[in-house]
Amino acid sequence: MDVLINVFVALHIIGIGSLLGGFLTQMKALGAGTARFSPAMLHGALTMLITGVALVGLNQADDQAVNNVKIGVKLAVLVVILALVYVKRDDEKADKGLFAAVGGLTVANIFIATLWT
Ligand code: HEM
Repeated sequence: MDVLINVFVALHIIGIGSLLGGFLTQMKALGAGTARFSPAMLHGALTMLITGVALVGLNQADDQAVNNVKIGVKLAVLVVILALVYVKRDDEKADKGLFAAVGGLTVANIFIATLWT
């Protein structure tokens, strides 16, 4: 079971890479006001959701304690990210504030995941 959980943690991290990486590649465009949400960001956010839910289930099946409040906060933040990226996915130019908010919320979730022990 441990190996399976670790595989899903790895997939979870690949999801972060895609979501945050998609954001970071647009930093220059963000400055110019031409940033847009990329498929990598949408697929990264979806990967986070699927692997996160799977991790909750796997940890519970393995009788390992899961911090429900922390997971709830991470889920709420991700739902906002996912909604914004999904709704704006076809816009050629994303609103600067919205785009920056998605990056900020992603970074916030990384710190929540790592600092909230
Ligand atoms: C942008 C959104 C998210 C980010 C950046 C993120 C980040 C992380 C990171 C860095 C880890 C590994 C560190 C650790 O084990 O504490 C992790 C683990 C985990 N994540 Fe996420 N996560 C996100 C969304 C979610 C969601 C939506 C769920 C569940 C619905 C979730 C559930 C979990 C679980 C169960 C673990 C492993 C167990 C633990 O927290 O101790 N994550 N996440």
